[in-house]
Amino acid sequence: MKTKIGGKELIEEAAELIRKGEVVAFPTETVYGLGADAFNAKAVAKIFKAKGRPADNPLIVHLFSKDQLNKVAKDIPEEAYVLIDIFTPGPLTLILNKHPDIPSITTSGLNTVGIRFPNNELARMLLSKSNTPIAAPSANISGRLSPTTGQAVYEDMDGKIPMILDGGKSQVGIESTVLDLTKKPYTILRPGAISASMLVPYLLEVKNFKGEVKVATSPGMKYQHYAPKCICVGAKLKDRAIIHYKKIANDKCNRPVIIGNFNFIKDLPVNIETLSLGDSVEECMSSFFDTLRYAEKKYNYIILQNFSDFPDFFSLNNRIEKATSHIIV
Ligand code: TXA
Ligand code: MG
Repeated sequence: MKTKIGGKELIEEAAELIRKGEVVAFPTETVYGLGADAFNAKAVAKIFKAKGRPADNPLIVHLFSKDQLNKVAKDIPEEAYVLIDIFTPGPLTLILNKHPDIPSITTSGLNTVGIRFPNNELARMLLSKSNTPIAAPSANISGRLSPTTGQAVYEDMDGKIPMILDGGKSQVGIESTVLDLTKKPYTILRPGAISASMLVPYLLEVKNFKGEVKVATSPGMKYQHYAPKCICVGAKLKDRAIIHYKKIANDKCNRPVIIGNFNFIKDLPVNIETLSLGDSVEECMSSFFDTLRYAEKKYNYIILQNFSDFPDFFSLNNRIEKATSHIIV
């Protein structure tokens, strides 16, 4: 299959593909999504195929407007409407009770459905013009880094889907916060740019999911996510990162790199290869996946700063711990 890639000029054609039951990749403010009509089971099956995604990992349903809510969910709690007004369109996914019209493949047989209103011009145009809720996971091959550029989607999806809408770089850069509103206490199943402390004024109580998952509440949590192709380990301290780098660089076959925020990178010896994620937490989130995709091509051993001592970096550090399989040197 030939994969077309382009911007706004392809929007009518993209909407037509969605209406016809095809799969289209599109940008969102978090990461790129791989979308199909959420009500069309055959179309949704194509997403699972293109990604190589396990059938028991449910998809998020993307909506254009609030009037679509009652078509995809039922028994919606009051708090959902409050959060939608305050935080959306934006990087927040709400888990609600599923409407029976949503085919079970979309939610992997669960009675609940994740919904979100993406805040990206092309995503909103696609949702509006195709006139249907769009089920979409991140547009990477299952287990790979989430894509934050059209080019990154192309690397993973060329030849597998008919079209990629390219909207440039995703601004937020890590996937949406997933908040379960189906049982109390309301629980964050996946941290994202909207943090527990931002949500708590509207919910009174919200639990941050922590620790190992035995019986997974969010089915996706049990899968290895966001991992670069090469070895990737974490380092909390600059000195430890340098010692480890030198040890690894001793073997001439190795091409290590240290990746961290500006402060972590700035006074490292000149003979050490480094990549900076940026300064603020927003910058670091926004550049994270793209930096890792770049690094795994150029290097074969990544030493990645671990931010567990920086509360503001909580959500980004969740992705870092997955990329480094919780290994700290
Ligand atoms: O920012 C995002 O959320 C991006 C963009 C494209 O919207 N999407 C995304 O989708 O990250 P995906 O499929 O890569 O991750 C969705 C996560 C998975 O961990 C999945 O298990 C969980 O949300 N999820 C989806 N529906 C769920 C449900 N009904 N109950 C519990 N967890 C659910
Ligand atoms: Mg994903």
